[in-house]
Amino acid sequence: MFPQNLIEAGNLTKENLFQIFEKAKYFEENYTNGIKFPDLKGLTTVLAFFENSTRTKLSFELAAQRLSADVLTFTTAGSSLAKGESLADTIRTIDAMLNTARENTSTNIPKAMYVVRNKFSGVPLFIKNITKNTVINAGDGKHEHPTQAILDAYTLFKHYKNLENLKITIIGDILHSRVARSNITMLQTLGAKVKLFGPGTLLPLHLNCWNLEIFDDIDEVINWSEAIILLRLQNERMASGLLPSLEEFVKFYQINLNNFAKKDKIILIHPGPVNYGVELDYGVSKLHNSMIDRQVTNGVFTRMATMSLLANTV
Ligand code: CP
Repeated sequence: MFPQNLIEAGNLTKENLFQIFEKAKYFEENYTNGIKFPDLKGLTTVLAFFENSTRTKLSFELAAQRLSADVLTFTTAGSSLAKGESLADTIRTIDAMLNTARENTSTNIPKAMYVVRNKFSGVPLFIKNITKNTVINAGDGKHEHPTQAILDAYTLFKHYKNLENLKITIIGDILHSRVARSNITMLQTLGAKVKLFGPGTLLPLHLNCWNLEIFDDIDEVINWSEAIILLRLQNERMASGLLPSLEEFVKFYQINLNNFAKKDKIILIHPGPVNYGVELDYGVSKLHNSMIDRQVTNGVFTRMATMSLLANTV
C-alpha cells in the first residue's frame, strides 16, 4: 500500500521504496524529450516554496510537466501572505480555486499535490491536516527532506545494485541537516549500514535513537566506507560559535583529492548546493566516482515516480 502523503522518510516501507525505484527506472528508460506521460492528467501540482530552492523546485516542476499535470507556482514574495493572510487561509484559498464550477465544497478525491518547502519544521504536516489534497514535504526546517533521500538512495542503488549492508558515512553538519535525518531513516529501511563523521558541535544530542557509530578521523571514514554522503554547513540554520574556525573544519572534515583518491571503490554524493573549498574540493567533483550531477538527473525521475505512485493511492 502506497501512502497518500509524503511527510517524512518513515512514511515509506522498503516495498514502497522499491516501487519508486522500479517506476523511476521505467521513466528513465522511456522518457524522450517532448513526450508526456498521462499519470497526473487532471491534477494540479502546487509548488509552494516558502524557502529558496533550485534543484528541488525545478525538478518537481519538470517532473509534474512530464506527467501532464497543471502547475501552479506559489512563493511568499508577491503573495497575500505579505498582507497578513495566514498560511491556513492561503491553502483554503488555493483549494477553493481547484474546485470545479459544479461543486461548492471539496470532495475527498485529491485534485492537487502540494509540494511544500518551508524554513519551519512541521509546516507540511500542518498543511496535510487542513487539506484533503496530497502533500509532499520538499524540505522543512531541520526536520526532513524525504524526496532528496529517495534520489540519494536511488543513485546508490543504481551504482551498487543492492543497498543491503552497504557501508555509508554521512559527513558534515548533521545537526542542521534535514537531508541527514531522511537519509538515515531511509537507508536503514533499505538495510544499509550508516555511520557519521562531523564536529561534535554539529552532531545531534539525541543520536542514540538511531544507534549510529561516529568516526574520529577522515582516514578511518575512507577505509570503511563504500559511499560518502557529504553535507554543507547550513549557515542559515546555524547559531554562531559552533565551529572554532572554518579553517579547522576544512582541515579535519573536508573531502579532497588527498583523502578521497586513496580508494577506488567508493562513491561520493552530495545533495547540493555545494560550497566548494569548504566541505568539498572542486577537483573531487570532477572524478568519475563523484555522483553529484547524476543525483540531479535522478531527482527528476524519482520525483516523477513518487508523484505518480502518490496519485494512484486513491
Ligand atoms: N538538495 C536541495 O534541496 O537543493 P535545493 O535547495 O537547491 O532544492
